[in-house]
Amino acid sequence: MGLDNKVAIVTGASGGMGKEVVEQFLKQGSNVAAIDLHVDSLQELEKQYPKQLLVLQGNLTEEQSVEVAIKKTADKFGRIDVLANVAGIAQAATDIEKVTLKDWERIMAINSTAVFLTSRAVVPYMKQQNCGSIINIASVSVDRPRPGLNAYVASKGATISLTKALAIELAPYNIRVNAINPGPADTKMLGEFTASGVDEGQTKENIFRKSVPLGELITPEAIANCVLYLSSDLAKMMTGSIVNVDGGRGI
Ligand SMILES: NC(=O)c1ccc[n+]([C@@H]2O[C@H](COP(=O)([O-])OP(=O)(O)OC[C@H]3O[C@@H](n4cnc5c(N)ncnc54)[C@H](O)[C@@H]3O)[C@@H](O)[C@H]2O)c1
Repeated sequence: MGLDNKVAIVTGASGGMGKEVVEQFLKQGSNVAAIDLHVDSLQELEKQYPKQLLVLQGNLTEEQSVEVAIKKTADKFGRIDVLANVAGIAQAATDIEKVTLKDWERIMAINSTAVFLTSRAVVPYMKQQNCGSIINIASVSVDRPRPGLNAYVASKGATISLTKALAIELAPYNIRVNAINPGPADTKMLGEFTASGVDEGQTKENIFRKSVPLGELITPEAIANCVLYLSSDLAKMMTGSIVNVDGGRGI
């Protein structure tokens, strides 16, 4: 895919999708900076790829933490070709009148403000190189919302709008910005959308899997395949695109 020796930053790198994205980049020969709040589960990979992989513990909602992580990446690898914003948090389905301001702000901070912070930090490097690719993981729930996921859907909607805004702003610098809308995916997060008092397994099967026309939950591999494609020159004429990887859920 022409991704060998490219430098990719992956956020949410310990999560279901993020770890798969990290592994696929490493297999392609890319250098990877893997950022997450919790990094223990990346230790094995770090041993396997000591030169290619830089593991960075950090909180993406903190301005300073983001700036430091991006600088460490550039210092180690000398450039930044790809930023994959995968980190995110779920919202347990909650009636709007019961959503606290604190919950709303926490979801916004991770799912959209963090995307602003990481994008702002990488763009100077990408502008200098006159190339780059930013990929934001949003959600098909923006087009097909579910009751009670109010803050989550709003936070992902903001990310889609930011994707388009940056795509037009950064096109003159050959920096492409695209988003992926996953459908319900088979990761730890899926159960976290369950309303309190409701069985998690039942929600996964009856609400999520059955809502996918192709009949299966989305795999992390399917998301990673799309991230790699959008990172590569195969997608060199794609910017401002919102790509559904959702088994048809968005139809
Ligand atoms: N799983 C789904 O069904 C689904 C569907 C649509 C969209 N998404 C989106 O896909 C992305 C990946 O989700 P996933 O299913 O892999 O979830 P996950 O919970 O397995 O992984 C999310 C990762 O983000 C990290 N993270 C959270 N807050 C952070 C912070 N402040 N700083 C640094 N790291 C932080 C977590 O530690 C975790 O490792 C998310 O943006 C999510 O909203 C998921």
